[in-house]
Amino acid sequence: MSRLDQTIARLQAQKICIEAAATALVQTPGVIFELGLGSGRTFDHLREVFPDRSIIVFERVVETAAAYTPAADQLILGEVLTTLPQAVSQFAASVALIHADIGGPDHQANAHLAESLSQHYSRFLVAGGWLIANRAEAAFAGSTPIALPTTVADDHCYLFRSA
Ligand SMILES: C[S@@+](CC[C@H](N)C(=O)[O-])C[C@H]1O[C@@H](n2cnc3c(N)ncnc32)[C@H](O)[C@@H]1O
Repeated sequence: MSRLDQTIARLQAQKICIEAAATALVQTPGVIFELGLGSGRTFDHLREVFPDRSIIVFERVVETAAAYTPAADQLILGEVLTTLPQAVSQFAASVALIHADIGGPDHQANAHLAESLSQHYSRFLVAGGWLIANRAEAAFAGSTPIALPTTVADDHCYLFRSA
C-alpha cells in the first residue's frame, strides 16, 4: 500500500469513526476532547457532526489557519502530558468522546505517548463515553474495545468504550 493509500485510509477511518461516535453518543451528554489539532481537519469535522457540544482542543503549538483554530477558551496549549492531567479538576467525568490523534513521525514515541495518556482517560469519560485513538496502546483500564465499522481499514483507528 503506497503512502498515499495509507493516508487516504487513515483519513477515511477518522471520518467514519467520528461519525459512528456521533450516532452512538446522541443520548450521552458531555463535552468532546480533541487531542492534537494539527491542521484542524478532524477538529472541523467534530464540530460539524457535534454542533451542540463544546470541543476542547489540546495542542502543543497551533500552526493551522484561523478558520480551523478553536476559540481561546476552547484551546489548552502546551505539552499534553502536563495539560491533560491538569484538566481533570475542570472536566472529571464530563467528557463524552476523546479523539486522540496526537504525536509525530516517531512511531515508538507515539506508542509511549498513547500509553502515558491512556492512564488519564477513565477520569474524564462519562459512563459509555468513547475513545477514538490513533494507537492501540491507548486502551485504558476498564475500557471495552468497540468493533470498527466494517468500512474502516485496520490499524488506523482504535475504538474503546468507557465502563
Ligand atoms: C497528526 S497531528 C493531528 C492532526 C489532526 N487530527 C488533523 O486532523 O489535522 C498531531 C498533533 O499532535 C501535536 N502533538 C504531538 N505531540 C504533542 C504533545 N506531546 N503535546 C501536545 N501536542 C502534541 C502536534 O503538534 C500535532 O499538531
